[in-house]
Amino acid sequence: MVSFAALITAALVASAMAHDMSPAEIARRNTHAIAARATLSKCSEKLKARDFVERRLARRDQLIGQHVQKRNLEFVQDLSRRQDTNSSVCILAPEVTVGPYYLGAELIREDISEGGAGIPLLMDFQFIDVNTCNPVPQAMIDIWHCNSTGVYSGYEVEGTAGESFNRGLQPTDSDGIMHMKTSFPGWYAGRATHIHLAAHINGTVNTEKMIYEGGMTTHIGQVFMPEDILSQIDTAETYNTNKVTRMKNSEDGIFAEESTGNNAVADVTMLGASITDGFLATISIGIDLSSNQTDALNGGAGGPGGSGPGGAPPSGVPSGGPRPSGSASA
Ligand SMILES: *[C@@H]1O[C@H](CO)[C@@H](O)[C@H](O)[C@H]1NC(C)=O
Ligand SMILES: *[C@@H]1O[C@H](CO)[C@@H](O)[C@H](O)[C@H]1NC(C)=O
Ligand SMILES: *[C@@H]1O[C@H](CO)[C@@H](O)[C@H](O)[C@H]1NC(C)=O
Ligand SMILES: *[C@@H]1O[C@H](CO)[C@@H](O)[C@H](O)[C@H]1NC(C)=O
Repeated sequence: MVSFAALITAALVASAMAHDMSPAEIARRNTHAIAARATLSKCSEKLKARDFVERRLARRDQLIGQHVQKRNLEFVQDLSRRQDTNSSVCILAPEVTVGPYYLGAELIREDISEGGAGIPLLMDFQFIDVNTCNPVPQAMIDIWHCNSTGVYSGYEVEGTAGESFNRGLQPTDSDGIMHMKTSFPGWYAGRATHIHLAAHINGTVNTEKMIYEGGMTTHIGQVFMPEDILSQIDTAETYNTNKVTRMKNSEDGIFAEESTGNNAVADVTMLGASITDGFLATISIGIDLSSNQTDALNGGAGGPGGSGPGGAPPSGVPSGGPRPSGSASA
């Protein structure tokens, strides 16, 4: 690891030691972190241009209009107007660990909540090409996260084999924007509250099975939530039944990695006067279309049964051990 020392930031080193990353894995991620930081300043002018911001906000208003009840519309629109709209449009995140809970072959659908308990969450994520600073249309965005009590679907060790809640795919539109509905994630031991995502391009939609096939993965990342919102969620129904103490963003090594030179925290807006009305999370994410992350997504150097792709699994799964078994497909 010493030979890489000059390249690696403190955050990456800390995270590497915590998750037993190989030097190759560290180098891979570090390259992306540097590239993302370098493009941040390059793209910020373009992303802050008035017409670009206005288009972004118009699309966000459409999402709100589709999902927010009439009685709350005025509240949300007023809040949107007051918000600093510039804060959410200049964010570029580097690649971070895929974690042990990626399954693949998820359904293309706009609502991944499957009616599970929890506070509604609308995701308004925009994807920006870090090489051109333009939005990335026709990317397929893969989302997965734990439910409101910290459990991932699709894993035997979680008691959820064959289930698919809180997993799904949606394409980006011509503005590079992906909209999806879910329930606000909870948390589990060793990690701050987060949403996993991957961006795929150049694949095809199988309209019969509603899945995405082929193509390549160009980005793997995690989106975090603001602490002031999380502390409200802590007290909300079902979240407050979780016996695991929630880890703060500042205590999470992967948060530090994702945030190095970037902002990995979404802009979160309430969708009504009560938190049970739901939230809207907005973020812009930089992706490098020439970067092939397909192997990293499917297990990286560790691979199934190997040293694992990193990321702290919830209790019951040995740290650094193999991916949880169950209905997982590599
Ligand atoms: C965002 O900030 C830039 C300057 O940093 C300004 O020119 C632009 O008008 C702002 N956009 C909005 C929508 O406030
Ligand atoms: C989360 O999923 C687990 C496994 O299906 C389930 O037992 C639990 O009730 C779910 N949490 C909520 C709040 O629905
Ligand atoms: C691959 O996807 C990118 C981004 O969506 C697009 O610009 C490019 O034209 C695609 N290439 C092919 C061969 O389809
Ligand atoms: C991306 O990587 C995968 C896995 O190694 C490979 O099968 C695929 O051909 C690569 N795609 C491109 C466009 O390089």
